[in-house]
Amino acid sequence: MSWLRPHRRRAGTSTTEQGWSPEEVRGLEDAVARAPSVHNTQPWELTASDRTALLRERPDVALEQHDPEGRDRRLSCGAAVTNLFLAVRELGWAALVRRGPEESESDDPLLVATVRATHRQQPSVAEGQRFRAITRRTSYRRPFHEQQLPHVAREALLAAGNSSDVHARWITGIEEARTLAEILGYAARVHRKDRHYQRELAMWLTSGQGGVDPGGGIASEDLGTEGVAAVGLVGSSSRLPDERQLAEWMANESIMVLTTATDEPAAHFRTGEAMQFAWLTATSLGLVASVITQPLNLTEVRAGLRDRLGLPGPPHALLRFGYPVPVPSQHRF
Ligand SMILES: Cc1cc2nc3c(=O)[nH]c(=O)nc-3n(C[C@H](O)[C@H](O)[C@H](O)COP(=O)(O)O)c2cc1C
Repeated sequence: MSWLRPHRRRAGTSTTEQGWSPEEVRGLEDAVARAPSVHNTQPWELTASDRTALLRERPDVALEQHDPEGRDRRLSCGAAVTNLFLAVRELGWAALVRRGPEESESDDPLLVATVRATHRQQPSVAEGQRFRAITRRTSYRRPFHEQQLPHVAREALLAAGNSSDVHARWITGIEEARTLAEILGYAARVHRKDRHYQRELAMWLTSGQGGVDPGGGIASEDLGTEGVAAVGLVGSSSRLPDERQLAEWMANESIMVLTTATDEPAAHFRTGEAMQFAWLTATSLGLVASVITQPLNLTEVRAGLRDRLGLPGPPHALLRFGYPVPVPSQHRF
């Protein structure tokens, strides 16, 4: 569920040229609600009227243990901005995105972005493909198919993850994979034995019923138990893989790290936008992905990765990409 205030339309105006129809607003709402969010909390509020949509952050949706600084909440809001932009483009409008209260000339400190439909303009083929990927994108927390990503796909993902404010690069070679495995192994042990952390996580795990207020929470059966994803969201009973084995798995996956030059809230929003842009690009190419931020919410983990991988700034998210393992077809008599 997301928070969408009712659409207001001025009497006597045409919905096609003046404002969005209720159905179009529902389309925007649906696209935003499908953005990935930390623990599926959907920590945003959407308001749409005439031809302007406002996305606001909801700091009251707080994860004090997992996300004490609100970093993941801001990444989530950034991902929602990407979906909102694509949804406005899909309606056939040029979309002007103003980020933060300053660009929007607003005094609302919680304003993440204003997306305004300025004039009629058909979406590009790539925008249409990414828009259609919104409903198919999902967190794939399992080992990937052994087939490696072709160079052209890795290039496309890298281009999508990089933006004017966000730097994306691959974890490359066994040495970097060993470093990552060591640091993620450390974070996994810290989180597994932290009782306060685990109590909060348990509140967001559902048994597939959904309905945790205000977002849906995560179905416990969706948590990664095997491969790299086993250290992606660690619960109290997670079995942690051997670090050497973890490093080998990591070296065989395509793992992207997203960093920014600064560690300001604006940088977190932009990272979320880039993350979702890359994720939708992957989905449109028939790939699957999952994001890992849990370890990066520990200060020493961010500092350690930055230092030992020589990153140009603080790391905010790790994205793993691959091909899905085909589901065996049902036996037919
Ligand atoms: C900012 C952010 C951080 C996330 N961190 C993690 C993580 O550390 N581990 C994980 O397994 N999933 C993580 N996720 C994935 C969310 O749990 C997931 O998006 C949410 O439950 C909705 O499910 P879906 O992606 O399948 O739509 C994160 C998502 C976002 C947007």
